[in-house]
Amino acid sequence: MLKLSLLVMLLWGVASAQTGGAEKLAPYYPTPETIVEKMLQLGSLKAGEKVYDLGSGDGRIVIMAAQKFHADAVGVELDKDLCKLSTDKILKLHLEKNAHIVNGDLLKQNYSSADLITVYLLPGFIDKVQPMLDQQLKKGARVVAHDFEFKNWTPDKVENVADDGEGRSHTLYLYRK
Ligand SMILES: C[S@@+](CC[C@H](N)C(=O)[O-])C[C@H]1O[C@@H](n2cnc3c(N)ncnc32)[C@H](O)[C@@H]1O
Repeated sequence: MLKLSLLVMLLWGVASAQTGGAEKLAPYYPTPETIVEKMLQLGSLKAGEKVYDLGSGDGRIVIMAAQKFHADAVGVELDKDLCKLSTDKILKLHLEKNAHIVNGDLLKQNYSSADLITVYLLPGFIDKVQPMLDQQLKKGARVVAHDFEFKNWTPDKVENVADDGEGRSHTLYLYRK
């Protein structure tokens, strides 16, 4: 059965556009909080580790990584309003020491210090991220992808969630460099 997330994102894909020269690799379609936690657990995120969420939306992955897992968390987000929303949330929760949002193109950043990368981007667009991560990630770094896999990589583990409590199913892919 076609996943709802795929349908929503593919419909958006038909109307996708370039934003100030940067390519939009997915619309804003947030990961449910229960699945955020599963992603960070699957990625074995530990206190003090560096995690990047590529396309961080409202900052929910960054915030949970900092608040619950005590990681050093960075989100990269193209959309200015989402950057402001997530930064305001971080400040309100006093997480600014270990949670940051970069307003920019996720394809133009350096992830060489990452222990864990999380991604929820459209198939096709995710293929543009893979060569960059191949080049930049250090040995042992992990990548957790939500619903859409890196087709040239072999996952260490695949986790299926049949129902997130709201009737949506999810697939999580863990990769290790
Ligand atoms: C499907 S949402 C995922 C949001 C969040 N990671 C989550 O799982 O809840 C994808 C996000 O990527 C952002 N995005 C798309 N293309 C981007 C780019 N080139 N650079 C930075 N962010 C981008 C979108 O604005 C959107 O917020």
